[in-house]
Amino acid sequence: MISIKSKSELIKIRKAGLIVAKTLKHLKSKVKPGITTKQLDIEAANFIKKHKARAAFMGYRGYPGHICASINEEVVHGIPSNRILLDGDIISLDVGVELDGYFGDSAITVGVGKIAAESQRLIDVTRDALYKAINAARKDNYLSDISYAVQSHAEKAGFSVVRDFVGHGIGVNLHEEPQIPNFGKPGNGIKLKAGMVLAIEPMVNAGTWKVEVLQDGWTAVTRDDALSAHFEHTICVTNNKADILTAIN
Ligand code: MF3
Ligand code: CO
Repeated sequence: MISIKSKSELIKIRKAGLIVAKTLKHLKSKVKPGITTKQLDIEAANFIKKHKARAAFMGYRGYPGHICASINEEVVHGIPSNRILLDGDIISLDVGVELDGYFGDSAITVGVGKIAAESQRLIDVTRDALYKAINAARKDNYLSDISYAVQSHAEKAGFSVVRDFVGHGIGVNLHEEPQIPNFGKPGNGIKLKAGMVLAIEPMVNAGTWKVEVLQDGWTAVTRDDALSAHFEHTICVTNNKADILTAIN
């Protein structure tokens, strides 16, 4: 069952989402050559605590970080560590918080120092794929219209979309129904309704779409070690264009 959120629930999800957005903005300002992902994790933990929210990933199915920090060929679920960011790296920062029983979830990919033009293009295409997907998340459209928007944009640019991980409903839990693949033909799945809250999260690879999970049980990496980018917003379907609940404005 896909729940329809009430006005008061949406207010709570937006409050959680605002903390997520501010945390990402803070982390982005800290990303520089020489910093470790563990230091970013501590920054996030302190920032979220200061805003009286809870980092939603910590302890989720045993996940050992406050955030996910995925560098270069790491796709998602990179565990914060003593690895130092280097000039030219790209890093996906994924943040989820719980506030007053409601969840927000968002991710960005940013460059470290000066990055290659092709790395920047991967980031830009993945961000654009997210915004095309949000634009497709309209009342009376179908769930797979979101998936199609991501896949068609990424593949037109010569990139591939990850199949093994999906976006998701969100609200009173971090992961709710439905699952939202980043590939598929349009016009399939459920019809979208106003009040559905979705975390849409394209993961786009420079090379093969195939990924594998490392021995740590979490870190997903590309099979060919080519770069991967990831963006995510929590949105609400409305009678018009979807509302982004993890934006600062
Ligand atoms: N945004 C990711 C997701 O929705 C992050 C989850 S990390 C986990 O799956 F540790 F919480 F699993
Ligand atoms: Co998510």
